[in-house]
Amino acid sequence: MSSAPSPSYYQRHIFFCLNQRENGEASCGDHDAQAAFDHCKARVKQAGLSGPGKVRVNKAGCLDRCAGGPIAVVYPEAVWYSYVDKSDIDEIVESHLRDGKVVERLLTPPDLGR
Ligand code: FES
Repeated sequence: MSSAPSPSYYQRHIFFCLNQRENGEASCGDHDAQAAFDHCKARVKQAGLSGPGKVRVNKAGCLDRCAGGPIAVVYPEAVWYSYVDKSDIDEIVESHLRDGKVVERLLTPPDLGR
């Protein structure tokens, strides 16, 4: 049998932090992260990018980079984004998820953690 690694089930995953804190501390849920997630899922589907071998849009809990929120991260490239609005999501879908080109202007600053 071949020992070649099997291909990844999905080409790319994008995870959206949807964490909502109720204690007054910053969280991505304060920035309409659910709407951004829903929008991304719809756009990926419309673009024909969803499914095995393509793109999967997933919910996530806190990714521990709340200071840069709202946060989304794309794997396997491990590229972290701080988005603002739906046009930012459109750009991530079209540039990164479809064409493999990182959207530099939306990158989360490297020093921003929790
Ligand atoms: S609350 Fe979103 S990264 Fe922590």
